[in-house]
Amino acid sequence: MLYIGVDLGTSAVKLLLMDSEGKIRNIVSREYPLYFPHPGWSEQHPEDWYEQTLAGIGELLQGADKSQVAGISFGGQMHGLVVLDKSDQVIRPAILWNDGRTAEECDYLNHEIGREKLSEYTANIAFTGFTAPKLLWMKKHEPENFARIEKIMLPKDYIAYRLTGVHCTDVSDASGMLLFDVKNRCWSKEMCGICGIREEQLAKCFESYEKVGCVLPQVAKELGIPESVAVAAGAGDNAAAAVGTGTVGDNMCNISLGTSGTVFISSRNFGVDRFNALHSFAHADGSYHLMGCMLSAASCNKWWMDGIVGTGDYAAEQKQITGLGENHVYFLPYLMGERSPHNNPNARGTFIGMTMDTSRGDMTQAVLEGVAFALRDSLEVAKSLGIRLTRTKICGGGAKSPLWRRIVANILNLKVDIIESEEGPALGGAMLAAVACGEYASVEEIAAKVVKVVETVEPDPDLVAKYEARYNEFKEIYPACKPVFDILAGK
Ligand code: XUL
Repeated sequence: MLYIGVDLGTSAVKLLLMDSEGKIRNIVSREYPLYFPHPGWSEQHPEDWYEQTLAGIGELLQGADKSQVAGISFGGQMHGLVVLDKSDQVIRPAILWNDGRTAEECDYLNHEIGREKLSEYTANIAFTGFTAPKLLWMKKHEPENFARIEKIMLPKDYIAYRLTGVHCTDVSDASGMLLFDVKNRCWSKEMCGICGIREEQLAKCFESYEKVGCVLPQVAKELGIPESVAVAAGAGDNAAAAVGTGTVGDNMCNISLGTSGTVFISSRNFGVDRFNALHSFAHADGSYHLMGCMLSAASCNKWWMDGIVGTGDYAAEQKQITGLGENHVYFLPYLMGERSPHNNPNARGTFIGMTMDTSRGDMTQAVLEGVAFALRDSLEVAKSLGIRLTRTKICGGGAKSPLWRRIVANILNLKVDIIESEEGPALGGAMLAAVACGEYASVEEIAAKVVKVVETVEPDPDLVAKYEARYNEFKEIYPACKPVFDILAGK
């Protein structure tokens, strides 16, 4: 049988075709625009997602035996607010995970409702990208739109709805809404009350590997696939990526170097970071995870290479970098503000330490290192909770760079296992579909059979020591700059 994994990302949708044995048969990708209508805002049109997903599935299946397609599932950009009216029409553009407009609403939630209560109801506190603060923002700034809301959805769930007609979501993605009681895997009545919404406005919540329905007859006809094709709930992109890299069960780690950067730690047991610097979410394998999320990771390198240096040849730029551990330039990668662990939408990207002999290569290196140092910030929080890790998987576009993988291995002092395919969320989506169709008994079973480590990057003790000293310098920079970020934000 064949399974389709849809990774509904921020810059593009990636689609992957996997067979019963876990072999990847095809991968295609289609871009759509991202809008920044005001500084710090970030929006997309759900219709663009759907159009490109449907066209992408058509392209993916070219030359394949379409009668063999059995299931479709997803990894999707998390936290985005999609609102539908009573005719299931989209009310306004989706407000995305990296949108920073809700600072006031987060202050209200974290300080007036209080972090303790939020953490008790949802296992998390408010961050600007999360969904609940966006609802409060809409209620205040767009009351007419707010009054028309009939359904509140997440990005990938809008696609599942268009494919099946079912309003659904899954436990991992629902966890990032701040409306979900993560421990008990159900909606939080208290949070619905705080946000002024009814529970019926939220979608039905499934485990990630559960079937939510079959494709609608007109969708089956358009794509030339059987009407029996099952759609599984899928997962937030990080949980789906974790499935795709075999980060399931207890105490496994995956690092994603995508538009965002994440440190994802799976756990069989529910747990909350006392300071809520890491998110405590449900996992797609039926268990839980902790996650640190930085808002700009591979996107920092893309910004630096495409926008500033003006080259598409990232590998050639990286070839000039030889002195690992010896760079005198630092970069704070907070181009969209920062989530974990600083929770500061006003933080900004910053180069520091340049001298007259600083080269373009030093600055490129600082960007790659700055992202890895910021991931280390989240890892340090995990360590402070007693979590001990020796290795991690890695995925996302940035993981294609051998140099960046080496930098990550040495700055985090972790062995970095490279998987056959770095298409984490799309592969995870296809794997969840295979479980929903009964081809495998559980997510852990398919992960054990399908995911293959092809190489391991070992940290080098000399370099680890050099980077340890540099990390100790790096971590002084954000606290020193924070008052300046406040001034720049007019606070
Ligand atoms: C996770 C997060 C990002 C997005 C990126 O909390 O906000 O990783 O899911 O698509």
